[in-house]
Amino acid sequence: APRAPRAPRAVLVGPPGSGKSTVARLLARELGVAPRDTDVDIERSAGKPISEIFVDDGEPHFRDLERDAVTSALASHAGVLALGGGAVLDPHTEAALAAYAAAGGAVVFLDVSLAHAAPRVGFNQARPLLLGNPRSQWQALMERRRPVYRRVATLVVSTDARSPAQVAHEIAAALRA
Ligand code: S3P
Repeated sequence: APRAPRAPRAVLVGPPGSGKSTVARLLARELGVAPRDTDVDIERSAGKPISEIFVDDGEPHFRDLERDAVTSALASHAGVLALGGGAVLDPHTEAALAAYAAAGGAVVFLDVSLAHAAPRVGFNQARPLLLGNPRSQWQALMERRRPVYRRVATLVVSTDARSPAQVAHEIAAALRA
């Protein structure tokens, strides 16, 4: 199906620790396009890390910035786009992804189990939503979000027991099919 010329080649969604940023970089390299990450866009325009945006301005403000970042990247980034783990919860973003998919776009859900996500998340202080008890926070978050990830996805790829390079390769093959 025809895609708008400025639309992404693929959009990656999934929870923290699913490997979105790494896979976006590897997939972009394989496709010969640029990777982009909405978390990075937000930090760049806010001039501070996401953890500080949460503390200083609150999560609702972060979600506003995120909605704008996603809208703008979907309309202008002709490469591979990784979204922050919670971006799909915004109804406007979900609708925008549905429109992108209806126009032939690929929305890839990187599915992952807690056991494989945990070491990647690293249980550090960088993700404000996982403070306290990161394992149970992650699990609760994934339970709530899995239906949304599945609903927006045109392709589901399990990243358990696969390297990011293998995952990128699998997505590239699916895009060519
Ligand atoms: C969030 C995930 C983070 C970041 C923010 C909120 C979430 O991105 O956008 O901390 O709600 O799951 P990653 O999925 O890249 O960790």
